[in-house]
Amino acid sequence: MTGVGSVAVHTFVTHQNPANMTAHQSTDGHHVSGMARGRAESGPARFAAYDEFPDGEFFDPDAEFEPDPEYAATIAPDAARQRRERIGPTGRPMPYFPIPGPVTERGPATIIAMCNQKGGVGKTTSTINLGAALAEYGRRVLLVDFDPQGALSVGLGVNPMELDNTVYNLVMESGMAPDEVLLKTAIPGMDLLPSNIDLSAAEVQLVSEVARESALQRALAPLINDYDFVVIDCQPSLGLLTVNALTAAHKVIVPLECEFFALRGVALLTETIEKVQERLNPNLSLDGILATMYDSRTVHSREVLARVVEAFPDNVYHTVIGRTVRFPETTVAGEPITTYASNSVGAAAYRQLAREVLARCHAE
Ligand SMILES: Nc1ncnc2c1ncn2[C@@H]1O[C@H](COP(=O)(O)OP(=O)(O)OP(=O)(O)O)[C@@H](O)[C@H]1O
Ligand SMILES: [Mg+2]
Repeated sequence: MTGVGSVAVHTFVTHQNPANMTAHQSTDGHHVSGMARGRAESGPARFAAYDEFPDGEFFDPDAEFEPDPEYAATIAPDAARQRRERIGPTGRPMPYFPIPGPVTERGPATIIAMCNQKGGVGKTTSTINLGAALAEYGRRVLLVDFDPQGALSVGLGVNPMELDNTVYNLVMESGMAPDEVLLKTAIPGMDLLPSNIDLSAAEVQLVSEVARESALQRALAPLINDYDFVVIDCQPSLGLLTVNALTAAHKVIVPLECEFFALRGVALLTETIEKVQERLNPNLSLDGILATMYDSRTVHSREVLARVVEAFPDNVYHTVIGRTVRFPETTVAGEPITTYASNSVGAAAYRQLAREVLARCHAE
């Protein structure tokens, strides 16, 4: 397994205010309903207050812009102490991840698989919100719903039952054009390959196919030059669909819920990643483990996070996602938190995750 080691930061210099990019543009072609309500509650100045921390300053999830101090406390119970000691929620020194500049080189997309066979750990939430945050930073993003539950599609305001074509058709039918499946989302620069229950048939049908593990990779090949990032939302299993996602991907992000059994099953997951890397996809590496649903007010949450950092010292993202009811609300609203509650710490956390992921890409 390729360790990510230390992360070089300060790689981006050009300043870019994401608030300027959140205006909802009208979408053409396949418009995704329920998404274009453009919550303009944000003020650009508020972003600036957070994003323009001078170099050497550290992520302050308790900053003035946060309208929900109780939630802020779930990440940093004592922001003053955090500033003084410059320690992030993972207990390590917190680097500053600068605002990424515009993309200078368009190349084939970096493909990320959001993967954990444990259910309900934040895979879908992280796919939507990391994708939306990367799109705010001017990256062209394709989200792939690779779970027959279709939660990613629902979370973006799509009714999976009304779809004629889904990622299933793209993967299983060789003549299918990607344009017949692609949906534009209300987030400028972010598209979706939706899915529904049809995809569950693929798991069975692929078994008898030649090169069954690389069906998704083949389906994505015509699309990767049109995007900077492709993020694949995996289903909660290590079956053939997940192996397809790992075979197509360059990086894996493993969301881990900060609760007692969080680490159970992670060994099996890392083993699977290693096997895919050895046998099918030498380009694959674990980019990071993302602690989700963290509540620093509970000793339990803090202990679990400490254990995770101890187990994977080089692979835990500095960014930690706190627990907030705002995330379930966004699913109902059918939009990312970055537009639903643009000023919330939840949105800020996923923006920071996007910057951390970009910093890791640039450090390679
Ligand atoms: N940081 C958070 N704080 C509070 N609730 C959260 C958070 N992240 C996700 N949730 C909620 O937890 C539930 C599970 O999240 P999500 O659907 O993202 O997990 P998942 O890993 O994709 O699940 P599955 O394995 O079923 O696909 C959802 O109701 C979601 O709204
Ligand atoms: Mg999911």
